[in-house]
Order: sequence, then C-alpha cells, then structure tokens
Amino acid sequence: MSQLSPNIPKQSGTKVPEEIAVFSTEVEAEIDRHLAKYPVKRSAILPLMFIMQRERRGWLDPPAVAYLAKRLDVKITDIWEVATFYSMINTEPIGKYHIQICKTLSCKLLGSDKIAEQCLKKLGIGPGETTKDGRFSISLVECLGSCGTAPMLQIGFDFHENLTQEKVDQIIDSLP
Ligand code: FES
Repeated sequence: MSQLSPNIPKQSGTKVPEEIAVFSTEVEAEIDRHLAKYPVKRSAILPLMFIMQRERRGWLDPPAVAYLAKRLDVKITDIWEVATFYSMINTEPIGKYHIQICKTLSCKLLGSDKIAEQCLKKLGIGPGETTKDGRFSISLVECLGSCGTAPMLQIGFDFHENLTQEKVDQIIDSLP
C-alpha cells in the first residue's frame, strides 16, 4: 500500500516543477470561463484546482501546480498554501475511490469509529493510505456538513448517510 500524506506536499514549495501540464482546448476554454468570473485572477484558484484534479487523475501533481501558478500569475508557494489548507485538494496520488469518513462529534457519537475500523479492515489499509491496486484511499476527515444524517462518509462527490455496518459493506461492494 502506498502512503498518503494528505496535507504535506513532498515537493518544496519554492521549487518550480520542470514540467507544465497541458490541457485540451475544451479544458482551456473551461478554465477561461472561470477566470472571466473574477476581477482578480487568483480568486479562481479553487475552481481551477478542481479542474486540475479532475484532469490529472485525482490529484494536484507538480505539473498542474506549475500550470496554475502560470495561469494565475502567482508563486508556486501561493498554490501550495491553498492546496495544503483544504482537505478536498489532494497533494498526493489518490485512489479511484476516495473514501472520506467523518470523525467529528455527531458522527463519532453515532459510531463513526466502528465504521472507520470496518472500512480500514475490509480494504486492508490504514488512514491516509491507498490500496495496492490503486482503487481505494481512505481519509478520516472533519465534519462534512451532514451532521443530521450521521454517521456518514463521502466517496468522490457522493454522500452516504445514516450508515450501518451492513450499509458500508454494500456501498463498497457495489463500486464498479
Ligand atoms: S459531524 Fe459528521 S457530518 Fe458533521
């Protein structure tokens, strides 16, 4: 299993990556549309990071960081400052299915520890790790804003709520 360090980029924030990501004309047009919404270019940093992740196999790799710095006319360190603040921005390679299990109060009181233990055992990895086949990564995260339906987890952009151990098994087993 490979080790994820969700908020700690391996690369020094001051070193400029040698390679710069290249995107299709459609993706460039999408990026232009986002940039046009903001009077200050750097304000588009988050939507552009999501595009980078989508286009670069789920994570903000160094060529994508270099691209963003160039398009937004900011320093590499400015990109890392934002990327390492938000848990939804991946600064390491991530599995096809990123399972984020909420560990905050409502979920914790309603059994998130057991849910997490079950997921980790089922997939044979630890928190912040990815399975050898690259299919699953698990992160234990702070409140995902669905406290009324605790315990819950998020896979990709989908919420799975009011979890039970049976439900968790079904959800993971049903992923293609
Ligand atoms: S405490 Fe889990 S979603 Fe808020």
